[in-house]
Amino acid sequence: MGVSKVAGICLVMMAVWQMAAVAGRGEAKKSPPTFYKDVLPILQDKCESCHRSGEAAPMALMTYEQTRPLAGKIAAAVEMKMMPPWFADARFGHFANDPSLSAEQISTLGAWADGGAAAGDAGDAPAPRKWSEGWNIPQPDVVVKMPKAVQIPARGEVDYTYEIVATHFTEDKWVQMAEVRPSTPAHVHHAVVYIRPPDSQWLRHAPVGAAFTASMLSDPEERRQAHETTSDLLLVYAPGSAPDRWADGMAKFVPAGADLVFQMHYTTNGEAASDETSAGLVFAKNPPKRRVITLQLNNHALVIPPGADDFRVEVQGTLPNDATLLSLFPHMHLRGKRFEYDIVHDDGSVEVLLRVNYHFHWQLSYKLAESRLLKAGTKLRAVAWYDNSKNNPHNPDPTKTVTWGDQTSEEMMVGFFDVAIPAGMDKWKFFIRSGEGGMKQ
Ligand code: HEC
Repeated sequence: MGVSKVAGICLVMMAVWQMAAVAGRGEAKKSPPTFYKDVLPILQDKCESCHRSGEAAPMALMTYEQTRPLAGKIAAAVEMKMMPPWFADARFGHFANDPSLSAEQISTLGAWADGGAAAGDAGDAPAPRKWSEGWNIPQPDVVVKMPKAVQIPARGEVDYTYEIVATHFTEDKWVQMAEVRPSTPAHVHHAVVYIRPPDSQWLRHAPVGAAFTASMLSDPEERRQAHETTSDLLLVYAPGSAPDRWADGMAKFVPAGADLVFQMHYTTNGEAASDETSAGLVFAKNPPKRRVITLQLNNHALVIPPGADDFRVEVQGTLPNDATLLSLFPHMHLRGKRFEYDIVHDDGSVEVLLRVNYHFHWQLSYKLAESRLLKAGTKLRAVAWYDNSKNNPHNPDPTKTVTWGDQTSEEMMVGFFDVAIPAGMDKWKFFIRSGEGGMKQ
């Protein structure tokens, strides 16, 4: 419904604009676009989410004064499709969070720059877009913040850092929206926030409310466990990733007495820093019918030869129960090149759900424009390609054989995906089925 309506509006606008262009040819030149009338609405819609103070982008694009000096750069960045960042191959799938500009919006920004980047009449400006201070979701009902700041050194590799934070929830909660905000985003490669139910033994002897790494744990079994959990994810954060907002009737479940476990991957950049990451939660107004869980397709056995420029790794799994697919979030490191999610049908044909031309600096989630019911027995496949050649500008060492590991100089192959299942089911029950298969939790 919503989607076709938007498309309809676009078509109409396009037609009007084309007529104006045709009419303009023989007559006086069409007046160039102005900031307030033509440019600001695009910025509000597609750019301010990152280009405002405190967000991912280095400069704000909210006012004429901020935007004017960058008119040429903006025109170039949108013309080359570098901005807004989006890496899905347009041939496959439709995504609700696709921020791509229309051809018309791109030419408006180009014409504005070419025509002298005029301000125009401030009276034409749309009302300022309302952003919650510090959040891209509405004001959270609860903010769960790491109580102890983590000190990040100026140089070197930092082991995954954990901080377990008690929620003190006295009743079960359904989380409909969630956003992770590091206090020093420049040092956060990614963060995973796990939900640890009160009866979980995972990291039970680790400190609560204090930062630790696996190597600081005295129990060897817990050291190993740090990297392996069956706990459900609340959400994954990486630069450029959008907060989670589930449709009405769907939410993530956080039981009473649960802890949130922040698993932080910090990277160093020459400057020491300290970080206190928070998770903002908005609760569902009514108990939902469906529960959202995050599953993953992993291949830990990857061995990428030196110099290989298009090395393929795949993993398949079979869904044990019916599940409604909501979103996809591929994760690789510096040698990641392409990532694809497929359904392998019984007749052997392959349907591509998403293909991402991977960019390490932008790890995005891809939210399906229309959720998709996958029946029990559906074969899902994830395929990743790696560029370990010297032509990959991010490659730290093309002479190295690369295997699985936490650090960005090692590799990962993780296809996270979110599904909705009945509210009364949990991850354990979801995996109970007859027969066996390779789907990881
Ligand atoms: C998801 C966050 C995000 C969104 C949305 C986004 N940007 Fe950016 N933008 C960034 C970040 C981060 C950088 C700096 C790093 C980089 O250049 O990749 C950047 C850099 C830029 C640059 C500088 C490029 C250069 O040549 O140095 C321009 C211009 C720009 N953005 C314009 C835009 C415009 C116009 C939009 C909307 C149509 C937009 N961006 C949407 C995050 C975003």
